[in-house]
Amino acid sequence: MPHRADLSTRLSYALAWVRGKTDLAPAAGLVLGSGLGDFVDRLERAVSIPYEEIPSFPVSRVPGHVGRLVIGELVTSEGTVAVAAMQGRVHGYEGWSGEEVAFGARVLCALGVKLLLVTNAAGGVNPTYAPGDLVRIVDHLNLSGVNPLVGANDERLGPRFPDLSEAYDARLGALLEEAAARAGVTLRRGVYACMPGPSYETPAEIRMLRLLGADLVGMSTVPEVIAARHMGVPVAGLSVVTNFAAGLSRRPLSHEEVAETAGRVRDRLAAVVEGFLPGAVR
Ligand code: HPA
Repeated sequence: MPHRADLSTRLSYALAWVRGKTDLAPAAGLVLGSGLGDFVDRLERAVSIPYEEIPSFPVSRVPGHVGRLVIGELVTSEGTVAVAAMQGRVHGYEGWSGEEVAFGARVLCALGVKLLLVTNAAGGVNPTYAPGDLVRIVDHLNLSGVNPLVGANDERLGPRFPDLSEAYDARLGALLEEAAARAGVTLRRGVYACMPGPSYETPAEIRMLRLLGADLVGMSTVPEVIAARHMGVPVAGLSVVTNFAAGLSRRPLSHEEVAETAGRVRDRLAAVVEGFLPGAVR
């Protein structure tokens, strides 16, 4: 094994590379989940940096997960916001450690963003959710078995024992709800359970998750949120319900269904994000 530099050093190399590609100073970081990546098409003056190019950046091989960092300006009627967006992310089930899974989110945070908005495709565990629903994540259950902070702590990045009692920022949550109301989009609230994957859950596991207080289930997001909170960056989260969780419908789950439903919700998600960001970075 070659010697690996410590996390701060790897982050500083990645950051230097990204800063060399654009003069924009992003005010918001976005992580775009399965089927949600083409939000970047709305950015102006955009530069697109393939993950392969960025030193230390982990690269996914999952179909439908493009891997690039796009930095550009979101021009809306309420103002212009410089945004750094990850189009695609890596997952623990590919074999990446928690630290690697969270690396991209750390790059966004290190760019100096005022907030991180994480998005994902999720299964609906709450029986009142239907595919196509948009849900604001209010809290999470980390059942992945992975934590991105495992290992020596680097005090330059954050504390050993970060507080997660407000993992999802209440002010940002209220702004998401206002933006959704202005856009005429129904936004539900829910607790997101992160499972290790890559197999979908069994019906018994979904009943367990419901008992534990989960409304949504997925295989991502939580490591990024923990890393952002470690670095002191406020977080907002949105899930697109792409399917009934296992056992809640007779249909077998498939990645194709997940990607297809996420695509269907794209415009509503974009309307909420566009209404949200200008006020949120103020
Ligand atoms: N389970 C886990 N992850 C998911 C699901 C699901 O039902 N839908 C989209 N991502």
